[in-house]
Amino acid sequence: MNHPNHFLGLKLLSRDQIEEILDRASFYRTSLDNSNKITKSCIGKNVINLFFENSTRTRVSFELAEKIIGMNAVNFSNDGSSFSKGESLLDTIKNLNAMKFDCYVVRHSVPGIPKLISQNVEGNVINAGDGAAEHPTQGLLDIMSLNRYFKCIKGLRICIVGDISHSRVAMSNIFGLRTLGAKVSVCGPRSFIPKNIEALGVEVYDDIDQAIKEHDAINVLRVQLERDAGSLLPSLQEYSKFYGITMKRISLNPKIKILHPGPMNINVEIDYESSVSRNSLIFDQVTNGLSIRLAIFDLLSSNKNLK
Ligand code: CP
Repeated sequence: MNHPNHFLGLKLLSRDQIEEILDRASFYRTSLDNSNKITKSCIGKNVINLFFENSTRTRVSFELAEKIIGMNAVNFSNDGSSFSKGESLLDTIKNLNAMKFDCYVVRHSVPGIPKLISQNVEGNVINAGDGAAEHPTQGLLDIMSLNRYFKCIKGLRICIVGDISHSRVAMSNIFGLRTLGAKVSVCGPRSFIPKNIEALGVEVYDDIDQAIKEHDAINVLRVQLERDAGSLLPSLQEYSKFYGITMKRISLNPKIKILHPGPMNINVEIDYESSVSRNSLIFDQVTNGLSIRLAIFDLLSSNKNLK
């Protein structure tokens, strides 16, 4: 990783770039499923996981991918750092850069922070989720899960359901899926749908039952209570009643596949039965997350352009 070669989002990636990542991830998924030996292509490289926001799936799968691929990993969190003494983010980053990390994996609540860090370090920066902007590895693992099931993304009808306005997952899905030729829609109460979202080439559905009938898969988003999404709703009970995914709703289109990036608010946006039903790809998404993160490290270390 001699030349900074960041992975910050799906918005500007070409179809060829996305397909190269998916192909590489598919190779890793097959290797992991068959317990094949994985080449430690990043041996000796130093990576720091900068998680300024909580995470389970993303953080753990990045850490596991780092170990599998041979990197030396260091974890950083706000708690216990010199932020409590008033050190700024930029000063923190400059000090970390002085330690010559090869790679920075960054999650932050503010959109654009991974890009800002990329402009102030010599190593590669990977966006692990920035505010409501993008969560590109999540977008790719969602696409990989759809591709494994449906075999082709082009022409698929995918609806993203729920709290679109707070969702970096929605943005990365819209950019990546549309680049690969899927038809993408969103569905939710109008208070959850950003104004002018049609400009991104998506259709808006108000009625979840109609959306379920007219799509091959739905990606159900979490109501982000920590970002005060509840204040945009009359009540969580009403949201659940009008938009919550249940087996009764799934029965309107028994072939539909259900995704959810996690963590789930069970009985708010989805009930437990639906989340573990035969329609659900939710745990396959998590499995694919490890392969996507291995692919990103591998391709960045080979100086593939992921910008
Ligand atoms: N999907 C996702 O980003 O989950 P975590 O917040 O647990 O990483």
